[in-house]
Amino acid sequence: MKHLITPNDLSDKEVEELFEDARIFQDLRSNNILEGKLVVTLFFESSTRTRSSFEIAAKRLGAEVVNLEVQTSSTNKGETVEDTVANLNAMKPDAIIIRHKDCGLPASLKTYVDCPIINAGDGKNAHPTQALLDLFTIDQHFEGNIQGKNILIVGDIVNSRVATSNLELLPRFGLNPILVSPPRFQSNSSFRNATHIKEVIDDADIIMSLRVQHERHEVNISKEEQEREKEEYVRDYCITKELVGDRDFLLLHPGPVNRNIDITDEMLNDPRSKVLKQVENGVAIRMAVLKKFILQKENIENKRIKVKSSKGFSLIELIFAIAVIAVIASVAIPKLMGVNSKAKTSTVNGDISTIISSVQSYHMIHKKVDKISDSVTLNPTVWSIADKEVIFKENDKECVKIAVSDSQLTVTIDQASGDVCSELYNNGVRNEVFALN
Ligand code: CP
Repeated sequence: MKHLITPNDLSDKEVEELFEDARIFQDLRSNNILEGKLVVTLFFESSTRTRSSFEIAAKRLGAEVVNLEVQTSSTNKGETVEDTVANLNAMKPDAIIIRHKDCGLPASLKTYVDCPIINAGDGKNAHPTQALLDLFTIDQHFEGNIQGKNILIVGDIVNSRVATSNLELLPRFGLNPILVSPPRFQSNSSFRNATHIKEVIDDADIIMSLRVQHERHEVNISKEEQEREKEEYVRDYCITKELVGDRDFLLLHPGPVNRNIDITDEMLNDPRSKVLKQVENGVAIRMAVLKKFILQKENIENKRIKVKSSKGFSLIELIFAIAVIAVIASVAIPKLMGVNSKAKTSTVNGDISTIISSVQSYHMIHKKVDKISDSVTLNPTVWSIADKEVIFKENDKECVKIAVSDSQLTVTIDQASGDVCSELYNNGVRNEVFALN
């Protein structure tokens, strides 16, 4: 059984596969990949983003979610966390997501369960899904060109699990961390260090601001001293417009943001800030994580292409649907010159080999489909499946959408790219309706 405790539980290839899935899930539409599965969340520390993001991700995949309210659970009566988890495990969940203040606690629970443990943050130790969504957001922003990019990680580094997990993950993908913090927040690490942002701001491609983790500090100074430290911190580490000027960089923060202490209101509203994009991406990443870890023993490819519809849409039908586009592209192209938006109806016949060869023709013409096999891998065109819809995307833009009903397919082609396509379809949206036989 594989668990997700730190980013190092994933190989580089597994991270890339998770990102492939996250790109498919990016529209956050619902599907039935985890239908019949049950996820338990167990948050012993406060959370807004991680808890709701995991819950939304699970529900978007069709799973049921039970949130154990730890404040009213039997841990209040002296039950240990280990016993709590063993009892929950006896109810046969498909994954347990846990956040706890104690470093190493999620890892120690592995022996009490028969399902994957997913660490949603343990003390200052690790926050693997946060690091994954941060890397995903960076990769998306730089369109995959992240090798050699410098990321300033600014703030309370020694107490931050976000910093720990990012320092574990980001360098594996070619990013150079530069740690910026007052001496009391510095960690023992081999990465480049700076005490002031001004020393390194010109090198920044990305700035990741962190919250001061007051809950992990031992407070043995007076209120006045604390106030003075806060003022000094804001003066030296708050990300302000005055500090960054018009420099080109990506601004990130894992949240919760302490406004005008970590980042000013003005900079949070600046187009360079992608703080809410991180939150949005967090759902897609957690959908990919849940899919991977819950279905680790199952045939995930079959799950991936199972489309929920009253008709029960199978792999063969999916390939058939793709082939409809292929047939239109390869056979009917001459008729498409001078396209109009009028719908028409036609019938497509074909066995599986005809369909595959049609899809290959589609590739020849559209340069869209890299490979067609039993598992239907379509790259670089991204495709996703929601209720009764197959969507193809290129450069984040929907180009082909197939709506499926019991009796017909509706193919919508919107300004598809590629030499031939742009010539043919630059008149805009076109709809075709086909009868299924
Ligand atoms: N980033 C993060 O972990 O936020 P929450 O504490 O709100 O879950």
